Amino acid sequence: MNTKNINRACLDRILEGSRTDAYYHLGISSKDPLLERLRGVRAIITAGSGERIREFAEHWSTVNGGPEILAFPKEERFVTRYTAGILFASHGMGMPSASIALQELMRMLYFLKGGDLDAMDEVFWARVGTSGGVGLPGGSVVISSEGLMADLKPYRLLQGGHGEYWFDGSFPASTIQDIIAANADSGLSVVSGKTVAGNDFFLEQFRLDGAISFETPETRTAWLQWLYDNGVRNIEMEGAMLAGYLNHWGFSRFAMICATLLNRMEGDQVTSAPEQLQHYSEKSRMVLFNYLKASLLGQSQVHTVPVDGKDPEMIKQAEPDWERLRRTAVSALGNSYSPYSHFPVGAAGFTDKGRLIWGANVENASFGLTLCAECSMISHLCATGGGRLTAVYCVNGQGQPLTPCGRCRQLLYEHGGPDMLLMTPQGVRTMADMLPQPFGPGDLEDC
Ligand code: URA
Repeated sequence: MNTKNINRACLDRILEGSRTDAYYHLGISSKDPLLERLRGVRAIITAGSGERIREFAEHWSTVNGGPEILAFPKEERFVTRYTAGILFASHGMGMPSASIALQELMRMLYFLKGGDLDAMDEVFWARVGTSGGVGLPGGSVVISSEGLMADLKPYRLLQGGHGEYWFDGSFPASTIQDIIAANADSGLSVVSGKTVAGNDFFLEQFRLDGAISFETPETRTAWLQWLYDNGVRNIEMEGAMLAGYLNHWGFSRFAMICATLLNRMEGDQVTSAPEQLQHYSEKSRMVLFNYLKASLLGQSQVHTVPVDGKDPEMIKQAEPDWERLRRTAVSALGNSYSPYSHFPVGAAGFTDKGRLIWGANVENASFGLTLCAECSMISHLCATGGGRLTAVYCVNGQGQPLTPCGRCRQLLYEHGGPDMLLMTPQGVRTMADMLPQPFGPGDLEDC
């Protein structure tokens, strides 16, 4: 988990008991005895509508032999249920609404797990929803690999007191692979692809049938084709926010599973009969439940199947997600303290456990005491649970790859060894290439 991104100044006071947290929109507080019964929560499943949440909870209770379903008292905006280790919560429509539900759920999880980051990281998150297909017929199920904005930016930007806040919209590849594997024998049409999260159902989804519309058939078709050519397979309204906030705290397992209600390449209006639409949505629930049964109840065999056309074994061993590392390093630039050189540097790395860590350079009036971005990244690594570095990307202020200085190569070697991969201006290199004849921990072994 990314400790530095958790608002501990606020949340730890609730754990200490000096403050009560009001999860106002969910209608409950941290003092409510009901929450004591949720401490064993293993998954948080969200969906747009309250009705779906009620159905999900009923189904999950049935799958588990009928344990009690606990209902949160307030249902004015959001419906929340808990049964058999899963918290089901509705989030309404669109990123502003869903962000309220998600922030309160994240705070609540921190409270329920007593601030234990490992326990929090074991919790699986999902949004199950509906969407417009891009080149896919109604009734397909898309597992999102990334939540993009309508201009295909792979991140969401918000404005705040410190300027722009940046949120990484990618979903963890290993979870996508596990969900697809858990559905291998289901006969359901499940694909993985990118998802655009529109800020508006009509305008940012390029519909021609809104009360307000700026598009022509030509601009609409060109946009949808551009999306398709860039790997987008569906359009909805929450994914970039969901992935962004969960990545910000550093959760390792989360997903978005959406049924398509129509193929947007063929029209704008959702015209299928209600029973047909219900049938489509049911498919996304089935995909989720097959995964939950496999991962939480160990009920089905996990098979190996292709994700985005790639063999999963290859995904495991293949190239690290360099684009995700680059974007993380670029986002770390915002934390650089470089008032003397005005040369910000960001660094990001993956560990052997799949954790994502990062750092930025921190200068000092003495000049000589300046810390490079790799130094702060390695401090982040050690301060948040350690592990071996497998791949690292450093960037300059323009987001271009930057070669680590000699001292930082030594630091990286200590925590990554000769096989660690490094992105350089000349492409990917191993640490063995970057630091020939190294001095390392092995040299002290006989002392
Ligand atoms: N949800 C969306 O956001 N868009 C669609 O086209 C269908 C469902």
